[in-house]
Amino acid sequence: MRPIINANNRKLVSLIALILQTTGIVLLLRYSRTWKAEPYISSTAIVASEFLKGFICLILVWFETDCSFVRLAKKLNDEIYSKPVETFKLTIPSGLYAIQNNLLFIALSYLNAATYQVTYQLKILTTALCCVFMLGKKIDKHQWVSLCMLAIGVAFVTWPSSDEAAKRASTQIQKSWAQQFIGFGAVLSATLTSGFAGVYFEKILKTGPTSVWVRNIQLAIFGTIFGLVIVFLFDARAVMDKGFFQGYSTVVWMVIFLQAIGGLIIAAVIKYADNIVKGFATSLSIILSSVVSYFVLNDFTPSLFFFMGTMLVITATFLYGWEKKVKATSPNEQVRI
Ligand code: C5P
Repeated sequence: MRPIINANNRKLVSLIALILQTTGIVLLLRYSRTWKAEPYISSTAIVASEFLKGFICLILVWFETDCSFVRLAKKLNDEIYSKPVETFKLTIPSGLYAIQNNLLFIALSYLNAATYQVTYQLKILTTALCCVFMLGKKIDKHQWVSLCMLAIGVAFVTWPSSDEAAKRASTQIQKSWAQQFIGFGAVLSATLTSGFAGVYFEKILKTGPTSVWVRNIQLAIFGTIFGLVIVFLFDARAVMDKGFFQGYSTVVWMVIFLQAIGGLIIAAVIKYADNIVKGFATSLSIILSSVVSYFVLNDFTPSLFFFMGTMLVITATFLYGWEKKVKATSPNEQVRI
């Protein structure tokens, strides 16, 4: 019997999974805002989701080794323990992701959410630049135009409606120039780490025979270690006072679970498609989650900016792939994306 997910449709399946996962997590976070909950420590949630990600990968590798614990142990020994140089390569993306998650946290405390969201979309362009310089990928002129359209489109989509902006302005303290400067510095640095870490991980995944799940176990090991260091440096006192899992409600566990699954899906998308295609998929899911919010949660009012942004994102998506098809009609020409 042929497996349902084969080499031909892996790219499509992983992209659809990414769109659904990103939409799910955005909706869950929106929905959870309406709940009154005890606060939890975000750095511990990052550790929990890294650990869970590693554990799920362990189960997947166990399946890959025909559900044999002996073969699983041998594979882990051969691929992780006996290849320290290969394993330690993963300290770079996991360290950068750990820094990135904290930079974004700093950015969110110094900038308002809209400025943060809009500025962070520059990661689409930093990712493309890293693809060119680190992977030697060729990006045509029309594809650069499409990537700029995508970044502007997502910025428009996430732009708050005038109602939301007015509500926020009345409840928020105006940030000083110095605070905004730090916030911008943090979010711009995060766009660089996002591009570099993603493309570095893509390079590792696409060279060598090591499976994507083993690579994720390596990433999760260092992610958990770096995450614990961050908990120790910034939240040790809070953890000592009320425990590591303080404030963990069902919804927090659901977010942690979706985040862990998201890490796996991102790895699959990077392996079977690439980082740029991942950018399109996450942009489309921002729109999808807003549409579901409008129809199901009734907590979103689309503005003119939203419609303009949606048009830009959809046009950019078609534009990016369009020339590829035209080129593909010439049998002698090799298409590179
Ligand atoms: O914003 P950006 O797309 O760079 O975010 C990537 C996120 O995906 C990071 O938070 C990182 O921790 C996570 N990730 C993961 N496992 C992977 C790749 C990325 O958890 N294999």
